[in-house]
Amino acid sequence: MPARNLLDLDDLSGSELTYLLDRARTFHTTPPRRDLLRDVCVVNLFFEASTRTFVSFAIAEQRVGADIVALPPGSSSLGKGETIADTAITLAAMGVQIIVTRHPESGFPYRLAESFDGHVINAGDGRHAHPTQALLDMLTLQAEFGRVEGLHVVLVGDILHSRVARSNVLGLRALGAQVTLVGPPTLLPEAMALEGVRIERDLDAVLPTADAVMLLRIQQERIASAVLPSLDDYARNYRLDARRLTALAPQAIVMHPGPYNRGVELTEDVFAFRGWRYAQQVSHGVYIRMAVLDFLINGVSVRA
Ligand code: ASP
Ligand code: CP
Repeated sequence: MPARNLLDLDDLSGSELTYLLDRARTFHTTPPRRDLLRDVCVVNLFFEASTRTFVSFAIAEQRVGADIVALPPGSSSLGKGETIADTAITLAAMGVQIIVTRHPESGFPYRLAESFDGHVINAGDGRHAHPTQALLDMLTLQAEFGRVEGLHVVLVGDILHSRVARSNVLGLRALGAQVTLVGPPTLLPEAMALEGVRIERDLDAVLPTADAVMLLRIQQERIASAVLPSLDDYARNYRLDARRLTALAPQAIVMHPGPYNRGVELTEDVFAFRGWRYAQQVSHGVYIRMAVLDFLINGVSVRA
């Protein structure tokens, strides 16, 4: 049987999704055994900038006892014309069992997985998917509300270019949340409406019924400058500020995958808001990534 990968959340059944969230919660209360990934070699291959994902994967890998190599793409032999398939074959021949990869091209981890005799974890590919981010977001919702099912989650901003939004929609729908996407037509075309997902243009109209508002950064690096929206218009219609915070229900929380752009999708008032959960999201990332590593190597396990 080919090795399991985590390329997007549709690689997981509903019960596996729930298992990963439970496992991450267990690791939060009881640190994992340091030998869960003993003698397992992991290569972190990031072709695109990352602070949170890169560092939290490295911390998670250390905490479960893996052997870790970070291969900066500029230092790899890809620059000498080696193909990604041949890189994958080469790493497998050295006994590498897991590759964690981020790449600007949508679909890159899928191509890598075709040639790699081991597990590939997608740490973000183009505008396509970011499964461990969506998992840590769902863990944050669970920690706050005790469930994901039935919550109204509102994703705001550049949905079109956001891999975070795409993976979250998959995961949130699988766990029974009600999802509303909010943004201007240039960043949220009508065609993105899926079964069970509502599209809304008026942020002010949705805020009072949101349990969680997930703000997204405009992915400038993926947008031709000619179609970039005016930042003034964007801020007027979609920025979360002091006035809009007052429209939120008392239990509502505000999330952001990071990095955030102050003054664009949020003002600094958000940092003082009682429901601002950015730091919790970042810290949940380590537990989720430990759970994913453990799941791929050890399967569904009862050992801590
Ligand atoms: N860090 C997230 C990602 O890599 C979100 C963002 O960059 O806006 O997709
Ligand atoms: N949230 C996230 O993926 O952050 P980085 O791009 O810094 O990894």
